[in-house]
Amino acid sequence: MSSIFVRGGVELRGRVEVSGAKNAVLPILAAALMAPSGVTRLESVPRLVDALTMVEVLEQLGVRAAWREDVLLLDAENLTASEASFHLVSKMRASVLIMGPLLGRLGKARVSLPGGCAIGARPLDLHLKGFSLLGAEIVLGHGYIEATASQLIGNTIYLDFPSVGATENIMMAACFAQGLTTIQNAAEEPEIVDLACFINGMGGRVEGAGTDTIVVHGRRPLHAQSYRVIPDRIEAGTYMVAAAITGGDLIIENVIPEHVISLTAKLREAGVTVHSLNDGMHVVSSGVIEPVDIKTLPYPGFPTDMQPQMMALLALACGTSMITETVFENRFMHVPELRRMGANIRTDGRSAVVSGVRALSGAPVTASDLRAGAALILAGLVAEGVTEVCGVGHIERGYVGIVPKLKSLGADIWLGQF
Ligand code: EPZ
Repeated sequence: MSSIFVRGGVELRGRVEVSGAKNAVLPILAAALMAPSGVTRLESVPRLVDALTMVEVLEQLGVRAAWREDVLLLDAENLTASEASFHLVSKMRASVLIMGPLLGRLGKARVSLPGGCAIGARPLDLHLKGFSLLGAEIVLGHGYIEATASQLIGNTIYLDFPSVGATENIMMAACFAQGLTTIQNAAEEPEIVDLACFINGMGGRVEGAGTDTIVVHGRRPLHAQSYRVIPDRIEAGTYMVAAAITGGDLIIENVIPEHVISLTAKLREAGVTVHSLNDGMHVVSSGVIEPVDIKTLPYPGFPTDMQPQMMALLALACGTSMITETVFENRFMHVPELRRMGANIRTDGRSAVVSGVRALSGAPVTASDLRAGAALILAGLVAEGVTEVCGVGHIERGYVGIVPKLKSLGADIWLGQF
C-alpha cells in the first residue's frame, strides 16, 4: 500500500492545469452506450481510476474502446450484455449510470446493488422511481437490481431530492421513451448540463438542463459524435484552497469561473484574493484566514465535494466557523483525522464547529474517501513536519497527478511505501 507524504511550510506558487471533470465524464461514458452506430470520440477524458473502471464496464457490455493519447474512442454498435457485475459496481458506484442507457436501448438492465460508502447509504430509490414511472418493471434480488421494459413511455417525474445520478439516469432512459418526459426538482449541476449537451450532440433533444425542470423528447434517432468534457470544478476548487491554505499565489488554468462561484464567494469572505480569468482563476492569499460559515447544498449552492477541503482551511482560521453538511448524512470522516493533526473541531450530527488553531502538526492520517483525502493533503501542505496520508487509492480516483501537480507548484510531497 502506498501513501502520500507531505512536508508542510511551502507557499505554493505557479500555474496548474485542471483536467476533465470526473463527474461529467462518468455519465457521458454511460451515455455513449446510447449510440447504435458510429464511433464516439471523447476529448479531455481524465486518466482517473474511476474513468478507467467505467471504460471496463462498457467493454464488459460489448463496447470497443481505444485510447489515442488523451482522446478516447468508443464503438457501442454491438452490445453483447446488459449487466454490470458486483466486482465493478462495488469498485465504483457510478456504474449504476449504465441502467438508463441499457434499459432504453435494450429494454433491460441488471446491475449489482452498490454498497453504501464512507459518506453515506447512497440509495437508488429515486433512480428506480423514475424508471418505474417510465414503465419499467423493477425486480430486486440476490444483490442485484433488474429493470425491464418492452416500451418506455414518457411521464412526469418529481425527484424528492435533486439527485445528480437519478437526474442523469432518468434523462438517459427518457431518450428512448415515447413522447415527452419532464423531470421536476432536477439536479442543476454543470455536469448535468454537460450530459445534456452530449446527448443533444448525438441527435437527442434535452431542454432545461441546468434548471430544476428538464424536458426530454423521446425516441429521436441517436448517433455517435465527438465531444470535449468540461473541466473539473472540484479539482479546480481543491487547488484554489491549496493556494489559500499555504498563503500562496496560484493561477489555476482550464476552469469555468461560473462553475466555482460559491467557492469563490466563500474564499473572498475568508480574506483570500480571487480573480476570475478568461479560462481560469488567480488565487492569492496572505495565509491569514477569516472564519466563515459553510452550508453545503445542491448546485448552485456550496458543493458538498468541497466541504472537507474547506474544513481543512477553516481549521486554521482566526476564529470559529460553522460547517453544515446537508447533502450526505456521514461526510465528516475527515474530522477525526484532522483532529489528529491538531485541529479543534466538534461535530454534532450534520454540523461541525471548527475553532481555528495557530498551526497543525504533521501526523499519519487515513483518507476514508476521495475528498477527505484531498483535505488531508491540503492540511499536510501547511502542517508543521511531515504528514503521511494513507488510502492513496481513494485520491487517485478523482485527482489526475495530484502529487506531480503539487510538486510543480513547490510542494514538498512524494509517494512512498510504508
Ligand atoms: C454525485 O453523486 C457525485 N458523483 C458526487 O461526487 C457528489 O457528491 C454528489 O453527486 C452530490 O453532488 C458523481 O457524479 C459520479 P446524489 P450521486 O444522487 O449522484 C440521496 C465525488 O467526490 N439520494 O446527488 O450519487 C443520496 O443518498 C462524489 O466526486 C437518495 O436518497 O449523488 C445523497 O444523500 C462523491 N436517493 C443525496 O441524495 C437516490 O436515489 C445526493 O446524492 C439518490 C440519491
